[in-house]
Amino acid sequence: MSQTLLIKHIRKIYGTTTSDIPFKKGKEMAVVNTQDNGFILIENDIIRAWGDMSQCPATADIVIDATGKSVLPAWCDSHTHIVFAQGRELEYVDKLKGRSYEEIAAKGGGILNSAKKLQELSEDELYERSLIRLNEVISNGTGAIEIKSGYGLTVESELKMLRVIQRLKNTSHATIKSTFLGAHAFPQEYRNNRAGYIDLLINEMLPQIGEQKLADYIDVFCEKGFFSVEETDTILKAGLHYGLKAKIHANQLNISGGVQVGIANHAVSVDHLEAVGEAELEALQKSETIPTVLPSCSFFLNIPYAPARKMIDQGLGIAIATDFNPGSSPSGNIPLLMALACNHMRLIPDEVFNGVTINGAHAMELGHSHGAIGVGRKANLIITKQNTSLDYMVYSFGSRHIDQMILNGRPC
Ligand code: NIG
Ligand code: FE
Repeated sequence: MSQTLLIKHIRKIYGTTTSDIPFKKGKEMAVVNTQDNGFILIENDIIRAWGDMSQCPATADIVIDATGKSVLPAWCDSHTHIVFAQGRELEYVDKLKGRSYEEIAAKGGGILNSAKKLQELSEDELYERSLIRLNEVISNGTGAIEIKSGYGLTVESELKMLRVIQRLKNTSHATIKSTFLGAHAFPQEYRNNRAGYIDLLINEMLPQIGEQKLADYIDVFCEKGFFSVEETDTILKAGLHYGLKAKIHANQLNISGGVQVGIANHAVSVDHLEAVGEAELEALQKSETIPTVLPSCSFFLNIPYAPARKMIDQGLGIAIATDFNPGSSPSGNIPLLMALACNHMRLIPDEVFNGVTINGAHAMELGHSHGAIGVGRKANLIITKQNTSLDYMVYSFGSRHIDQMILNGRPC
């Protein structure tokens, strides 16, 4: 039976559209369409109408009076690792004492530390802990999210992670995309047998993932000390064989060739990009691959930020994501991320808004249904508290501006 929900007397609706929105690039990134004094009508999980209050339907099954409040599309976070066992705050303190990320990783810390903890945890417990994180990011406005494996690093534990992501997909009102990141790090026992681990990825993990339809994408950490360009290429091609398109970690710590190998394999996105030069930007200009930047990772690791301002000024579009993970970005808070992107990348709130809504949606191939407010689109919405605006939300960083979330057309 169909159910209608009407939100009326909305002070301002952000991200409205009357047509399909392609991935936004360059100057388009600063364009946000709005509607003052508006309404939104939802039927089941879909937006059926929006517009000026003068056109507002008389009633609906559920009516929300949003006087003084704004409505935005829920955030689309296209890069996270929220399925993990526990935090790594001790390494954080070590880092504050002067040890580098690579040093910690080389001594069995970092990703391998997270893998050990995850391998020891039951699937049910991993699900429960991940669900708490998912619900926390939803309360901060996220309505669509990509989640990666990559803290399993054995056949059993990578599949366990992917099954947990699938369970979240089935139970949460958020829209979830799943990415296989078995190529996140080489396990200790394969340190001197890299080909052996790649063989395991391709010939043991991927066939089961493909058969059980446990992932939408494949990812590789293409970085010095992790996976080389050649290894990345081999793994991405194997993923494509099972229908998994690429979304990769590229150019985080070094100019690694990651951007180019991602583009060559028609990656949906190449993410990180803290270390890019002219060649990488030129290659991105000529491709359909989406550059995704992760400002909270730069903030937390104290490394340079991706040159987002320069990229937009050169006509590129960007998606902006949290990279929520226990090692390099222990936060999935998009309002805070938006403030970081403005202050450290010198973007304006409208550009950041597009980066975390419509462009983030495109980076998960959800650009036709998510990340904007239009007829026929998914009813995943943020209702703010009274008397706030997009600019104010970003400016007054750290304060809570969200009053209520609507996911799948339901208040939650
Ligand atoms: O996206 N770069 C690789 N993966 C994560 C960090 C993982 C970790 O340290 O646990 C990232 O930054
Ligand atoms: Fe990441």
